[in-house]
Amino acid sequence: MADTLAGCSALVTGASSGIGEATAAQLASLGARVAVVARRKERLEGLVERITAAGGSAVALAADITEEAAAQQAVAQAVDQFGRLDILVNNAGVMLLGPTAQASTADWKRMVDINVLGLLYCTHAALPHLTAAAADGPRRVADLVNVSSIGGRTVRPGSQVYNLTKWGVGALSESMRQELAGTHVRVSVIEPGPTRTELPDTNRPEIQAQIRGRQEGFDLLEAQDLADAIGYMVTRPRHVNVNEIMVRPTEIA
Ligand SMILES: NC(=O)c1ccc[n+]([C@@H]2O[C@H](COP(=O)([O-])OP(=O)(O)OC[C@H]3O[C@@H](n4cnc5c(N)ncnc54)[C@H](OP(=O)(O)O)[C@@H]3O)[C@@H](O)[C@H]2O)c1
Repeated sequence: MADTLAGCSALVTGASSGIGEATAAQLASLGARVAVVARRKERLEGLVERITAAGGSAVALAADITEEAAAQQAVAQAVDQFGRLDILVNNAGVMLLGPTAQASTADWKRMVDINVLGLLYCTHAALPHLTAAAADGPRRVADLVNVSSIGGRTVRPGSQVYNLTKWGVGALSESMRQELAGTHVRVSVIEPGPTRTELPDTNRPEIQAQIRGRQEGFDLLEAQDLADAIGYMVTRPRHVNVNEIMVRPTEIA
C-alpha cells in the first residue's frame, strides 16, 4: 500500500489540526506529495517536518481560503511545487452552534465563508488540474473529497446553520459527481460523527460545555479513523467511486 499514490500530489485544506492533519499524513504515507493548507503556519510546518521525517514529501501553504485569491494561490503553489494535482480534500471547516435567537450572525457568516465558499473556491481553482490528472496521471483518475458531517445527513436544534452548510456540501458533491463522471474525476463525500478534535473549541464557553457534556463518557472517533476512510476512498481502482462514507462512533446511537 505504501506507494499506492506514488507520482500523485494532493492538497488538503484544514491540515493544521484534526482530521485534515491526519489525512495529510495518511496520503503522504500512501506515497502522495502533499500540500497542507490552513491559516496556522507553524502547525503546518510541524506537520511537514513529521511527514518529511517519515520519508514523505509535503509543503506548507499558509492561506485563509475564505479569500478567493488566497485559495487560488494555494492551488497554484501546490501545482507549481509538484507539477500536478491529483487529489483535493476539502476538509477545512468550523462548527459554531447555539439557539437561533441568541446567535451571532458573524458566526453564521464564518461558517458559510469557510464551510461553503472556501470549499467552492478551492474546488473551482483545482478542477482543471484534477481533470488533467485524470486524463494523463499515473492512475488515470483524480479525486475530489469533500468533508461533510453527520450534520449533513441529520439535524438537531442549535446546529441550524452548520446543518445548512453541510447539507449543501452533500448536495454539491452529488451534483458534481454526476457532472464529472465521464471525466474520471471521482467525487466523494465523507460524513464524520463526533471526532476528538479542536472543532468545538471556537464555540462560546457554554456551548462548548454542552457539546462536551453530550460526548462525555463515549469513546469518540479519532481523526485517524477518518483519515483511514479517506485513504480508502482515494485508493480504489479507477472504475470504483466510493460516493459517500458515514462514520459514527460505535457507542453513540
Ligand atoms: N470533529 C468532529 O466531530 C467532526 C464531525 C463531523 C464533521 N467534521 C468536519 O471535519 C472537518 C475538520 O474538522 P476537525 O474536526 O478536524 O476540526 P479542527 O481540528 O478544528 O480543524 C479545522 C481545520 O479547518 C481549518 N480552517 C478553519 N478556517 C479556515 C480558513 N479560513 N482557511 C483555512 N483553513 C481554515 C483550521 O485551520 P486554521 O485554524 O489553522 O486555519 C483547521 O485546520 C470540518 O469540515 C468539520 O466540519 C468534524
